[in-house]
Amino acid sequence: MIHIDYTNMLAPTVSGGVPHADWADADRLFAGAHAEFEKRRAAGELGFLDLPCDAALHKQSTDYAARTRGKFDDVVILGIGGSALGPIALRTALRKPYWNMLGAGDRDMRPRLQVLDNLDPVTISALLAQVKLERTLFVVTSKSGGTAETMAQYLVVRETLANARLAIADHIVFVTDPKKGALRPVANAEKIPALDIPANVGGRFSVLCPVGVLPAALVGIDTAALLKGAGDMGALCVKPSLRENPAAVFGTLQYLADVKAGKHVHVMMPYSDALRDMAAWFVQLWAESLGKIRPGDKKSVGPTPLASLGATDQHSQVQLFMEGSADKTISLISVPRNKGDVTIPKLHQDTPELAYLGGHGLGEVLDVERRATAGALARRGRPNMTIHLDAVDPWHVGALMMLLEAATIYAGALYGVNPLDQPGVELGKNFTYAIMGRPGSDAAKAEWDQLPKPDAKYRV
Ligand code: PA5
Repeated sequence: MIHIDYTNMLAPTVSGGVPHADWADADRLFAGAHAEFEKRRAAGELGFLDLPCDAALHKQSTDYAARTRGKFDDVVILGIGGSALGPIALRTALRKPYWNMLGAGDRDMRPRLQVLDNLDPVTISALLAQVKLERTLFVVTSKSGGTAETMAQYLVVRETLANARLAIADHIVFVTDPKKGALRPVANAEKIPALDIPANVGGRFSVLCPVGVLPAALVGIDTAALLKGAGDMGALCVKPSLRENPAAVFGTLQYLADVKAGKHVHVMMPYSDALRDMAAWFVQLWAESLGKIRPGDKKSVGPTPLASLGATDQHSQVQLFMEGSADKTISLISVPRNKGDVTIPKLHQDTPELAYLGGHGLGEVLDVERRATAGALARRGRPNMTIHLDAVDPWHVGALMMLLEAATIYAGALYGVNPLDQPGVELGKNFTYAIMGRPGSDAAKAEWDQLPKPDAKYRV
């Protein structure tokens, strides 16, 4: 199971925490957010909630993975943002560490999983030079089927495959909207396999559809358990009672900490290497969903999420968390450490700095450090909560992702913004189109031409 311990989020226990009166009144506040959530759900906007029960969609991924089993040594995801961060998080959480560096036997004869998430030519050239093209599958993932970075990656890869005289439909699969975008007609015309991202599932909410589930199935993750965990958590996360709904508790406390206690920075800090990329996935979800101009009063709102890793960042960011601006909440994630722990040998018994460690487990020490950090943060008046996972397995990972997705929708309602859109990224995209000469970009071009350009006077 997953449970959230939020003792350290509340004042007066933690002096900088959510004021007692605000938490006491939070049921009323949450009732409004829940009503908004239900309104969006009834309007069919929250497609991510239905993914765990969509057996036909799940089958698209498992069938494709079964059909191509043994054919590929490398799977390369071409995609960016929500199309990339989910697969990366699943790989790191649910495959062995250093997956891409292991031999085929240690990977149970499953492929490596490479995810580009950018169009830096240095990385792409290196990757294409490194893989055996005839043993590589490229998964082109784009909800819109038009994102410049992903389309550019696709064009480069397609030409590379053609130059190697490899059949495109054997080495490329699309994951995209069932109807819209540039990829669907190409798939239909050339019989390139194409899996669906349901129309009502947006990029950063798409990890539990073929965006995440296809790569997961290809590398041998138990996708049925992943979806089961998400489904079980989804049932809790629609409950109208704040205190029985983990997504509601997470979203409401983070919101209250921001607007009532000035905690504008929301840190996600797993004490588990396996979950480190889950923090990066959360950062996109929270940032792109909540950082908006609120339509009601045209105010810019939204917290700044930050990814951190315990214990690594105890030697980096934690100084800031403890003594820097008191504008943060810290959500630590704990995982059990009883299985597979490594015992620290009892050496140097006459050296006090080493002797006290002997006989303890590395995981035990890591967990003690988590508890110590949570306590130290509380002592300094820095609000924090701990999300406890009973295991890092597909069920718990699916459940955690569903919890955070649902929490994002509640937080969107509390902030008064639409958590499902991302209008702020459009202007930069349109300027890119204008500079690149994409047809239909005349207005953006005119706006771009008006902007101040770099001036030699201000260069050093
Ligand atoms: O969450 C989002 O909608 C975005 O981050 C998208 O995932 C990202 O822009 C990529 O878009 P697309 O999947 O349409 O290529």
